[in-house]
Amino acid sequence: MKLGIIGCGLIGQKRAQAGKKLGLELVSACDLNIPAAQDLANRFGGQAVNDYRDVLSSDADILVVAVTHDKLAQIALEAVKAGKHLLLEKPGAVTSWALEPVLEEAIERNLSVKVGYNHRFHPSLQKARELVDQGALGQLMYVRGRYGHGGRLGYEKEWRMRREIGGGGELLDQGSHLIDLSLWFLGGFATVQAQLPNYYWKADVEDNAFLLLTTSLGQCAMLHATWTEWKNMFSFEIVGQLGKIAIDGLGGSYGPEQIAYHKMLPEMGPPETVIWQYPFPDQSWEKEFEELTKAIDQKRQPQGGLGEAIEVLRLIDIVYAQNRK
Ligand SMILES: NC(=O)c1ccc[n+]([C@@H]2O[C@H](COP(=O)([O-])OP(=O)(O)OC[C@H]3O[C@@H](n4cnc5c(N)ncnc54)[C@H](O)[C@@H]3O)[C@@H](O)[C@H]2O)c1
Repeated sequence: MKLGIIGCGLIGQKRAQAGKKLGLELVSACDLNIPAAQDLANRFGGQAVNDYRDVLSSDADILVVAVTHDKLAQIALEAVKAGKHLLLEKPGAVTSWALEPVLEEAIERNLSVKVGYNHRFHPSLQKARELVDQGALGQLMYVRGRYGHGGRLGYEKEWRMRREIGGGGELLDQGSHLIDLSLWFLGGFATVQAQLPNYYWKADVEDNAFLLLTTSLGQCAMLHATWTEWKNMFSFEIVGQLGKIAIDGLGGSYGPEQIAYHKMLPEMGPPETVIWQYPFPDQSWEKEFEELTKAIDQKRQPQGGLGEAIEVLRLIDIVYAQNRK
């Protein structure tokens, strides 16, 4: 299959690398910043362009859309109307209602659209899913997720901190990954409470998001996403009546990735613990792409597709409405 990439920034480059590993041929690389498109085309092949409509009319079968948040949904909608399968970067849109027409068009045209919630494809999270599905934790009670970094010099001037481009702040950025993972393990949420402070960065969006989500059964997700963590961190815990899973790190600057399974014993006291470690480079980008290509072959929507992304955005819509000043 042939690939086109719209948005040749940090993530466009990661997607190009993953596409190459899967044997996809890059035919078109697009960025408003033409040197960025040219650089990607030089390294991975294809033609460099600066108007995304040239990619829509190319012979690419799959498009990666990895632009700023304000343009994701509009380009995605035009891309499915042009008959392309998509790997659309998270959060897919800045509101749920902007993403709904993309899902309708994709279903109508039998196109597969994966939304870039790649964390599901990290080995520790895949292992957690397997353990939960085997019943190793019993009835789930709650999850607790923390995800953060400390930005960089001049971060407040980047598009992520400009509401008209980013659509919001850290809630949409790293918070959306935590919500996606919580939905994956606990299903839908009935209520959401949140605090969205701005503690440090001089911007008109939140630099921290504290959330408490509750299912109709009373299970909770306690989540914290932050741009003021200073030392990058990722932690996701899943706690059931028979035991607990603790995931730490995502590799790279987020520290070595590992998952610990603590099994409670009938006599209680200290649990039995098994630890799996993954000291190799992040392969989630390839695994996620592989899920999309399989979904295309099997003519289905991929796991972590538009339906799930719309659920994440519905919760985010509610939080932003609650916190609007
Ligand atoms: N899955 C993940 O873990 C993850 C991590 C980081 C970012 N992201 C997401 O990836 C997307 C891109 O983020 P990034 O970090 O690569 O940003 P970036 O700023 O590095 O790259 C975005 C690129 O899009 C280009 N662009 C903007 N509008 C365009 C348009 N209309 N046509 C063509 N090019 C256009 C910009 O010039 C820029 O080069 C965002 O949705 C972000 O949330 C996902």
